[in-house]
Amino acid sequence: MKTYEIEKTLVSEDEVKRIVERLGAEITAHYGELERELMVIGLLRGSFIFMADLVRQIKIPLVVDFLTLSSYGDGTISSGDVKVVMDLDSSIEDRDVLLVEDIVDTGRTFGKVIRMMRNRNPRSLKVCTFLNKPAARLVDIDIDFRGVDIPNEFAVGYGLDYAQGYRHLPYVGVLKID
Ligand code: PRP
Repeated sequence: MKTYEIEKTLVSEDEVKRIVERLGAEITAHYGELERELMVIGLLRGSFIFMADLVRQIKIPLVVDFLTLSSYGDGTISSGDVKVVMDLDSSIEDRDVLLVEDIVDTGRTFGKVIRMMRNRNPRSLKVCTFLNKPAARLVDIDIDFRGVDIPNEFAVGYGLDYAQGYRHLPYVGVLKID
């Protein structure tokens, strides 16, 4: 099996922990007391690790659901072709919804999902991303809860993949591609 090297670390394991704790505190403070549980919706597959860590830092009642999308295929360049592979299990109508992403890159994925979710009439809709890559943005997105900005390099780890690998790295790094 071909293996690839990590060229450098972008977000260390310690930084990941601090960022997730801060985001959890911001989200907890923002929502305060809600009438019904907060609906935290993760975009699969990339968000699964961040989502698992984040919800444990949100100190108000919540439920989780997942939406599976695909925009990159197996390459390293965004295709712009965003597909819904698996929809939510539950209705978000009149609910307070928090969308969770691992990374906002061009913004096409979040742009499409935000439009799709707004059409379902949630009570409120906020978005949270662990990584943000401003230099790659093609679609304007208002991010309510932002982990950290990274440069325009191909990041892997902490949920982010290259050809479906590297998602399990406990930190975010840049892949060395020869
Ligand atoms: C990645 C990532 C985001 C999206 C960001 O998903 O998880 O959803 O790309 O890119 P964009 O801002 O340019 O749209 P991908 O389609 O690779 O699927 P994955 O979640 O299974 O990794």
